[in-house]
Amino acid sequence: MSVEFCGLALRHPVINGSGTFDAIAARRAFGEDLAASFPFSAYVSKTITLQPRDGNPPPRLWEASGGLINSIGLPNKGLEVYLREDLPQLADLLGLAADGAAPGAVPLITNVMGASAEQIAELLGACDARPEIAAIELNVSCPNVKTGLDIGADPRQLAEVLRAVRGRTSKPLIVKLTPNTADVGACALAAQEAGADAVSLINTLRATALSPDGRSRPRRPWLGGGTGGLSGPAIRAVALAQVEAVAARVAIPVVGMGGVQNARHAQDLIDVGATLVAVGTETFRDPGVGARIAHELQEIMVGR
Ligand code: SIN
Repeated sequence: MSVEFCGLALRHPVINGSGTFDAIAARRAFGEDLAASFPFSAYVSKTITLQPRDGNPPPRLWEASGGLINSIGLPNKGLEVYLREDLPQLADLLGLAADGAAPGAVPLITNVMGASAEQIAELLGACDARPEIAAIELNVSCPNVKTGLDIGADPRQLAEVLRAVRGRTSKPLIVKLTPNTADVGACALAAQEAGADAVSLINTLRATALSPDGRSRPRRPWLGGGTGGLSGPAIRAVALAQVEAVAARVAIPVVGMGGVQNARHAQDLIDVGATLVAVGTETFRDPGVGARIAHELQEIMVGR
């Protein structure tokens, strides 16, 4: 079950999707057992931006058929507070030594988002200096902040930004792609050619929901941010198609995600070329889902 990913030795191929599992809050809720049996083989942080962000106004969630539309808008404490306050707590929880060495520990992947090449360069440089961070995931795909999506949807612009920032870190760089683009394979290829060590996909599909009061005229969007991103089982088939398309185009590892609820769904993504599988929306229902899927995957592999 162990898997090598960008030089990291992982216990199994199941990680969390950024922003769907707050490890620090989970430790408060579940206690020290969480550290002893962490459900994911690597931990991906919530997206961190240079400056603190409040996120979008409420309401931020809409339950759709077979899924969830979120318009969270990347609320976070900003880079400085993340590095000062969250990183030491995460290092302790994940079992990382002061020098970042992680024998038997859970490697930390920090997810960052910047609105410009300059911002991204600063974020990468700051993460590069911290040994606790094993790899960096660059979010160019959040549908809830305009600039994030624009960069990731255009292969030419994506390559230009990546080339400008790639030299700021020697850590593995994973580029999180958007499904909201005409040709996700072209975006993946552009990322690879501009120096990405891996790509991850899919982030949420841009979606909207109207106010439940059907009588109001004009009908208003329900979400405070206007539109949001759809995740969960409703997008699983789209994720499978896009992961397959990307894996066929690139030589770098692919992290597949989108509506994974069980090992069969994870195996589907692996079978079309994913090296790792990330679980997102399902962790809201079952925070231990990563360990369950890893265990079920092992049974599938033994039976093959
Ligand atoms: C959000 O905070 O809006 C969700 C994160 C994302 O879609 O990247």
